[in-house]
Amino acid sequence: MLEVRGLCKHFLVGHGPLGRFQHPDHVIRAVDGVSFTVAEGEVFGIVGESGSGKTTLARVVLRLSPADVGSVRYRGTEVFGMDKAALKRFRREVQPVFQDADSTLDPRQHVASVLEEPLLIHGVGNGEERRRAIRGVLGQVNLSPSLLSRHPSELSGGQRQRVALGRALLLEPHVIIADEPTSGLDPIVATQILALLLKLRRERSLSLVLISHDLETVAYASDRVGVMYRGRMVEVIGGDYFREGARHPYSRFLLGLDESLGETVLQEGVHEHVHASESGCSYLHSCPHHVHDCHVTAPSLREVAPGHLVACHVVK
Ligand SMILES: Nc1ncnc2c1ncn2[C@@H]1O[C@H](COP(=O)(O)OP(=O)(O)OP(=O)(O)O)[C@@H](O)[C@H]1O
Ligand SMILES: [Mg+2]
Repeated sequence: MLEVRGLCKHFLVGHGPLGRFQHPDHVIRAVDGVSFTVAEGEVFGIVGESGSGKTTLARVVLRLSPADVGSVRYRGTEVFGMDKAALKRFRREVQPVFQDADSTLDPRQHVASVLEEPLLIHGVGNGEERRRAIRGVLGQVNLSPSLLSRHPSELSGGQRQRVALGRALLLEPHVIIADEPTSGLDPIVATQILALLLKLRRERSLSLVLISHDLETVAYASDRVGVMYRGRMVEVIGGDYFREGARHPYSRFLLGLDESLGETVLQEGVHEHVHASESGCSYLHSCPHHVHDCHVTAPSLREVAPGHLVACHVVK
């Protein structure tokens, strides 16, 4: 359904009158060579600490922000090469749901027009059909029709998030890319929203990219989990195995698992000789297990068990 290959997005940042050109070496590698696939009806979870590049990755995959290099294919078609008509179809079939519904819902519109807008943009149905579709979606996201005449600012955070989700669902997408769709919501509402997404996946074979800080939620909901660290995908593992079977040192750190990696012996003294290296492993400085190769080349994802990929020189 979605095929992401070697995707990079770097930001150049600098200060002063010359702006970014004054410090051309200050580069944030927000997304740094990420590859993954999402199958039809699959839930692919993405976890990683704040700043690891999850939102940037989502924005680039959605073509809301240009990539530096790399490829995103949707149903076999290169997203960055799409013409206007293909892009319009992509925009309809691949829907984002972002964390902060406040920033995506126009505060001047009533909920009714917030919901109707995407249908109008995509020329879906006549007035009556659109109203029927909106009523149907309100039921799905468990919102009362009485909210239609309100402004987003008059709703609770959970209600706003459900409006944002309803808006995405109205176009009957094939893929939803949800960036922290439930963060900031109370646990009951968060559970309801997640349950709804999983129900849609079952009923409509919706593919879901679920970005979240919440490791429990991601492990529970995802068929596969991708772990991001400093712009790189360092591990891809089945959701069922994630909690106990993760093998990348960073994943194990995130999960609070023990840090021993089988036969690996901590090399004493190595830490003092570590220098920043663009070519080495991005986790080098925090990793107790690093060996010579980790300084020299960045490890790429490698299959260590069927369907289980790890980017680490030490993990066998
Ligand atoms: N427009 C931008 N200009 C410069 N740097 C940016 C920009 N957007 C993101 N970044 C930087 O890129 C890195 C990745 O940010 P991103 O928002 O993708 O992380 P994230 O994993 O979504 O974090 P969080 O979990 O906090 O949402 C960060 O270092 C961030 O400061
Ligand atoms: Mg983010």
